[in-house]
Amino acid sequence: MHADCDRLAAMARVGWEADDRDAPSVARRLRDLGLTFEEARGVLSILLLAGAITTAAALPRLVALLLDAGQWDAARERPPDGLAGVLAEGLRFAAAVPVTVRVAARDVSLGGRRVRRGTRVVVLTCNAARDPALFPDPDRFDVARAHDPRARHLWFGAGPHFCLGFALAQRQLRRTLEALLAVPGTPRVVRRAAARGALIPAYASLVLRVDAA
Ligand code: HEM
Repeated sequence: MHADCDRLAAMARVGWEADDRDAPSVARRLRDLGLTFEEARGVLSILLLAGAITTAAALPRLVALLLDAGQWDAARERPPDGLAGVLAEGLRFAAAVPVTVRVAARDVSLGGRRVRRGTRVVVLTCNAARDPALFPDPDRFDVARAHDPRARHLWFGAGPHFCLGFALAQRQLRRTLEALLAVPGTPRVVRRAAARGALIPAYASLVLRVDAA
């Protein structure tokens, strides 16, 4: 991850230093907004981390989940607007971002426990997405599950730090899944390997085969 961020920073430096104000680069835009290069590097790194890695890791997991659970055809048969439900259920079940961290800004009582100001709190979003109060029979993966509106895409976070890329991620996942589901025949997984030491759960490789009908 650090190596990727260093490579990104080297590319961003070029855009950052470009004289031409019309040079269309995010780095240049951030400079115009008054950020230092280190601050811009931070923004670009979080966009790489939160924006690219999440979606890239989630999609293969979603595909494998549909195939492993034998729900590929059920997903395919959903009406076009039903694909949002397939995505929601897939992201809920696979917990694309299983953990996040907060630092208590003040002394609080949380779930009956005292948390002192400055304490780092690890939030297991993967558990929240399996809360039976919101998701009856939570360990069952079901593309036809009717999602409780109160869940409000919990797997994209909540509150002021709700995922900035929510709409983009939805669109990317939806378009790719639509394209895959449109391929005739049902794919099968011929080989897979989990990524080791990855920041978020991901496949290092997932190989599918679709036999001609
Ligand atoms: C499947 C795809 C994605 C998932 C599951 C996901 C999930 C999340 C979650 C759970 C958070 C909240 C983290 C926290 O509260 O600590 C978050 C924040 C964020 N996401 Fe995403 N995300 C995805 C895609 C994207 C994309 C495509 C982008 C940008 C292009 C993006 C940009 C961000 C940013 C910038 C934040 C931080 C927002 C803030 O702190 O105010 N994410 N995301």
